[in-house]
Amino acid sequence: MDKFVIEGGVPLKGEISIKPAKNSLLPCLAASILTAEEVIFEKSSSLSDINSMLSLLQYLGVSVSGKAGERVVLKADKISSLTAPYDLVRKMRASFLVLGPLLSRFKKAKVSLPGGCAIGARPVDQHIKGLKALGAEIDFEEGYVVAKCNRLKGADVFFDKITVGGTQNILMAAVLAEGRTTIINAAKEPEVVDLGNLLLKMGAKIEGLGTDRIIIHGVENLKGATHCPIPDRIECGTFLAAAAATRGIIKIKNCIPAHLEKFLTKLKEMGFEIQIDDASIFLNGEKDVKSVDILTAPYPGFPTDLQAQSVALLTQASGIATVREEIFESRFMHIPELQRLGADIKLEGNTAVVKGKTLLKGAPVMASDLRASASLVIAGLIARGKTVVNRIYHLDRGYENFEERLASLGAKIERIK
Ligand code: UD1
Repeated sequence: MDKFVIEGGVPLKGEISIKPAKNSLLPCLAASILTAEEVIFEKSSSLSDINSMLSLLQYLGVSVSGKAGERVVLKADKISSLTAPYDLVRKMRASFLVLGPLLSRFKKAKVSLPGGCAIGARPVDQHIKGLKALGAEIDFEEGYVVAKCNRLKGADVFFDKITVGGTQNILMAAVLAEGRTTIINAAKEPEVVDLGNLLLKMGAKIEGLGTDRIIIHGVENLKGATHCPIPDRIECGTFLAAAAATRGIIKIKNCIPAHLEKFLTKLKEMGFEIQIDDASIFLNGEKDVKSVDILTAPYPGFPTDLQAQSVALLTQASGIATVREEIFESRFMHIPELQRLGADIKLEGNTAVVKGKTLLKGAPVMASDLRASASLVIAGLIARGKTVVNRIYHLDRGYENFEERLASLGAKIERIK
């Protein structure tokens, strides 16, 4: 298993360009199932999560051409299987997103239940509730969701809880349903809007994207389209947190600052100097900063996917910060590892109380999930001496060439195979 060896204490300095959003590309790739025509992605990514989705789509019979990380072309004109097997879904929960499009175009699908993961139970009850409302008959057999329908029928889908994946699955199911579907309490995340924009290009009729009420008028068929996924706001926030935590100076290019409004506001409240343009963010982290409290929430609230990185950053701010995790119940696996590096953090239920500013010292640590890994890398970049971050395969799911890009900013980081 690969690991990172980091010699900390170097302020990150320079420019970095943001890659396409993994969480946008994943549902958009799944949307290719909805048409027999070509769906072209002008930019893709070579992340392991994206490769997992492409492998699953190929397993279903979607032809994939092009190069990972560059332009890829998908064509679902010869679907040969309507089953997403456990081995492929287990690796990545977002595989469950093939259920909506398979069911709406082919009227049948069998998709493995994703199961739990390191950050919590993560049920899919809202996805199922939504598909049932559209008229799907759903059974659970040996760990699989077995779904069938005649043509799905538009209906009101009321989510009890805001769910990004649930909204995306129902959106993809409803675009080919008969009549009008309203998703109430829909997720407003930019990755939902980006999927919606691709579906619009494919000929779908959708109103209200980016609001909590999305209205879909089902159509008979969708056509091919060309799409360029949005830049990854979480990657952008991670680089900002890393530069800020090491008291560096960074310019982030090719990003959409509006997608990070809450996070940027918190950085400003801490005292960081920030300048924002249409597609770039400049941060100067040289001055002393103070703590702020954080509460994770659905978009446009503070993203749970930046909570772990922010905890690492807050160890370098003066004062006491409370960080409350409201989205995933066990998303604090990074805390004991940060404590190993000397962080003064107490965990009280779903709240981490971070006392700063602390001198972190290098030590071996273990990554437990994707964003926790990023948090540990940031802590390693801050810490004096050598930090070894083990199990970075988690990190490779969501950050492309992370160590090379950090090294281009001056970080002393090496991957040991
Ligand atoms: C997506 C993101 C993930 C991010 C999360 C929240 C992708 C591939 N992943 O995950 O990085 O952390 O949004 O912003 O885009 N829930 C239910 N029932 C359901 C569905 C969800 O109770 O049927 C709960 C979840 O357990 C969680 C909350 O709702 O507590 C939000 O989950 P959801 O928005 O669905 O997250 P994902 O789409 O899995």
